[in-house]
Amino acid sequence: MNKIDSISYPIYFNSITTRLDQFITEGKYSRFFILTDEHTGKYCLPYIQERLKANPKFDLIEINAGEESKSIDFCVGIWKMLIDFGADRNALLINLGGGVVTDLGGFAASTYKRGIDFIHIPTTLLSQVDASVGGKTGIDIFNLKNIIGTFTQPKAVFIEHALLETLPGRQIKSGLAEMLKHGLIADADYWDLLKSSDLENLSAELIRDSIIIKNKVVIADPNERGLRKILNFGHTIGHALESYSLNNDERPLTHGEAVVAGMICETYLSHVKTGLPYDQMVEIVDFLLGIYGKYEVSEAIFPQLTETMKKDKKNQGGKINCSLLAKIGECVIDNTCTTDELCDSLRYYASLAYAQA
Ligand SMILES: NC(=O)c1ccc[n+]([C@@H]2O[C@H](COP(=O)([O-])OP(=O)(O)OC[C@H]3O[C@@H](n4cnc5c(N)ncnc54)[C@H](O)[C@@H]3O)[C@@H](O)[C@H]2O)c1
Ligand SMILES: [Zn+2]
Repeated sequence: MNKIDSISYPIYFNSITTRLDQFITEGKYSRFFILTDEHTGKYCLPYIQERLKANPKFDLIEINAGEESKSIDFCVGIWKMLIDFGADRNALLINLGGGVVTDLGGFAASTYKRGIDFIHIPTTLLSQVDASVGGKTGIDIFNLKNIIGTFTQPKAVFIEHALLETLPGRQIKSGLAEMLKHGLIADADYWDLLKSSDLENLSAELIRDSIIIKNKVVIADPNERGLRKILNFGHTIGHALESYSLNNDERPLTHGEAVVAGMICETYLSHVKTGLPYDQMVEIVDFLLGIYGKYEVSEAIFPQLTETMKKDKKNQGGKINCSLLAKIGECVIDNTCTTDELCDSLRYYASLAYAQA
């Protein structure tokens, strides 16, 4: 299988050589732009360029690598480049990069002249299995992640296993976190499969299966009115840790590392609030800690973390909402958690006897 259908567009697997050029030609675009960051410009752009035989001419927009670029300032920079290059409504933007490039590029394209076509070529594992699928675009502002954005579907997504070859191991582990999440929230067999697989050398099939799980969820609920919220498992607490770490640590947590810590806390909450059996809680926590180790979270920062959680865009009516597990492979949305419960889960995490990663 080298193609699956998403909401309104195809997701192609390992088909850049045969399909990308054709896609651009058939779109009859006035011109096209490729957005990269400094790493994907170096490591991934040559791979793409070599395969653009019929469409060799494009304009390059390059941003700095890192979450700091997912900002309004960089978005203005992209809009300005599009204006300066005379991009009309029939232009195409190709987002070649990780989640930062796909979120930011998707947002810039979805708003430029009320929306131009864009496609994603995700180059991190995280953006392949998560960020590029489902049509969420966005930027961070006032230290709040993804607080401004749109739901806009790309015209196509190209998942290319070869592009992961240059990705550092820490980034692979970041994406693996979302794959593990997919198993935990929706597919116990997939969780078991991951547990028994060689996670150092992830196969293209495991990656594809993870995308299929996410794709099913977003097709059922494109605008996150209900079911799609299961994808937020681990993210209420994970996002707060990610923001904290970004502002305070010399070597900030990756998204996946933060989500793993969040998943451990929310696994504890699942046991307390939604009936996750004790042995399954232990299974999840042991497995995740075994791969990721532990992040130092002291009681002193709990108030700061819960304040960030209160501002989370997933909340409704001022209550902090979590998606929690009923069992492995089944997730329950809209569980209101009190500050005390969230602090208890952080305390549980802090008490776990594992060395820091
Ligand atoms: N839209 C969504 O549904 C969604 C879902 C999950 C995450 N996200 C967002 O995604 C972002 C995180 O994405 P990410 O983890 O991909 O981060 P990222 O885009 O910052 O990429 C991580 C690092 O890897 C480098 N890199 C990318 N591809 C490479 C390659 N092939 N070889 C070598 N280096 C490479 C990048 O330059 C960067 O330094 C966050 O902003 C998060 O909010 C969005
Ligand atoms: Zn995530």
